Amino acid sequence: ETTLGAAAAQNGRYFGTAIASGRLGDATYTSIAAREFTSVTAENEMKIDATEPQQGQFNFTSGDRVYNWAVQNGKQVRGHTLAWHSQQPGWMQSLSGSALRQAMNNHITGVMTHYKGKIAQWDVVNEAFVDGTSGARRDSNLQRSGNDWIEVAFRTARAADPAAKLCYNDYNVENWTWAKTQAMYAMVKDFKQRGVPIDCVGFQSHFNSDSPYNSNFRTTLQSFAALGVDVAVTELDIQGASGTTYANVTNDCLAVPRCLGITVWGVRDTDSWRAEHTPLLFNGDGSKKPAYTSVLNAL
Ligand code: XIL
Repeated sequence: ETTLGAAAAQNGRYFGTAIASGRLGDATYTSIAAREFTSVTAENEMKIDATEPQQGQFNFTSGDRVYNWAVQNGKQVRGHTLAWHSQQPGWMQSLSGSALRQAMNNHITGVMTHYKGKIAQWDVVNEAFVDGTSGARRDSNLQRSGNDWIEVAFRTARAADPAAKLCYNDYNVENWTWAKTQAMYAMVKDFKQRGVPIDCVGFQSHFNSDSPYNSNFRTTLQSFAALGVDVAVTELDIQGASGTTYANVTNDCLAVPRCLGITVWGVRDTDSWRAEHTPLLFNGDGSKKPAYTSVLNAL
């Protein structure tokens, strides 16, 4: 095959990228994105601060720009993200307790209703666990609203759009031996046992020298899939873009039948939130990097 998306499709997977609305006027960017990828995640445009800048006043201008570009170019869309401690608008940052709980539910319902029936997977909750060895929840206004905030978010999401797969998404959860991974595993296991509506787990996979790729990632993906959820690599970038590591991640997903696909977090190195790591598959001039060929050959 000649593109990432077509090669992944032969394996029953998608190959996606994050798209930034501000770059859709860049012809080099859009031609690569249109050609290579079959799934799109809005890099920032469907986050809370973008979609509900004032409480109760939804704005889908930028989100729709990304969504419409994706659909016009034949891509499926991953929704990102509905409940998160970060990129909250000021009004939400100042809320707590039951007022925040109500605002969270209203936000989930408002955004999911706008995109009802149009989103393949939603990252309902993002990054709820803390880094390090405790396995604890991350402190945030959402966490302080009650430990049940995550399951409440998932139940609200299921009611708003029953067609979307509902995902929990996080980083530093790829290494099976890490406490954060085990804490997330315990939560998903508990949710499945108690009937909390969760369909998938997203592994962001931002690999760098502090949190490097480990070959036990495949065990992680297999272990979560065995709980009865789909898994996905949702924000892949690798510091230095080692072709071997990119191929390993690709092979790990292909080895797990419930791995739906891989999304890289940007198109060219110059588009990356970590541009200094040159972590992606295309150079700033749009040419393919060696890691591109490694992924294509692995697919
Ligand atoms: C990042 C975007 O890439 C940046 O443009 C933005 O300034 C901050 O957020 N985990 C996530 C993503 O779930 O939403 C983050 O995206 C990267 C880390």
